Amino acid sequence: MSAPDPGAEVVLRVEGVTAGYGGPPIIENVSIEVRRGKITAIVGPNGAGKSTLLKSIAGVIKVSAGHVYVLDRESTNLAPEKLVRMRLSYVPQVANTFPDLTVRENLDMGGYTLKRGVSERIDELCELFPDIKRSLKRKAGALSGGQRTMLAMARALMLQPAVMLLDEPSAGLSPIFQSALWEQIEKVASTGVGICVVEQNTRRSLRHADWGYVLVLGKNRLDGPAQELLHDEEVIDLYVGRMS
Ligand SMILES: Nc1ncnc2c1ncn2[C@@H]1O[C@H](COP(=O)(O)OP(=O)(O)O)[C@@H](O)[C@H]1O
Ligand SMILES: [Mg+2]
Repeated sequence: MSAPDPGAEVVLRVEGVTAGYGGPPIIENVSIEVRRGKITAIVGPNGAGKSTLLKSIAGVIKVSAGHVYVLDRESTNLAPEKLVRMRLSYVPQVANTFPDLTVRENLDMGGYTLKRGVSERIDELCELFPDIKRSLKRKAGALSGGQRTMLAMARALMLQPAVMLLDEPSAGLSPIFQSALWEQIEKVASTGVGICVVEQNTRRSLRHADWGYVLVLGKNRLDGPAQELLHDEEVIDLYVGRMS
């Protein structure tokens, strides 16, 4: 894990974003930044609007106020396929792989807009994800939960995004698989990708993150270096717990 580096380039900037599902806004005036090569964790209680925030950045739901910038270019309310071209990739919590296709076919589909270099990119990702390398011929549906999450990440990396949004990547995984997954997330960040991860496991995600944002009732509550938040009394009492 690397120390927060305020000098690293901002690859994703969310400024005062308000969004929801047609009724009253679910997230309101939310601002975050994600930096190159860093892990930014969004934590907060269930229902705080963490997934909604990712969906609003990824073009899945409409932003009704505020702005989103990817690599300093405005990306607010662009269609998901345009956002991919702007080098933003999004790994939703569910349905993030095609179960009837093999692992290699899933990766091929992730690289569908690449004119050439698909198999070279798959080779590179196999270096980064040894688990994927071993399973290229297997159906994605036959993978374990942890392997499937790795595949979803690898697929999202096919087009060499500058920013990767991950929604609850470790949900449902045993502690051992969670550790392996976080190691993998750190490896991906070290290749220069800015990662924005939403997690239910507050303690663990702050342990691995560089910067953390606490979201409560759809609003920014506090943010800071992840290691400091991990020791912040308010964060501990509300979201981490003193026991684990
Ligand atoms: N598709 C949807 N339609 C309407 N309301 C939704 C939808 N998805 C989530 N919500 C509501 O938005 C709020 C925040 O949900 P969500 O962003 O999933 O929170 P979190 O990811 O922090 O647990 C919840 O009150 C939830 O009921
Ligand atoms: Mg969620």
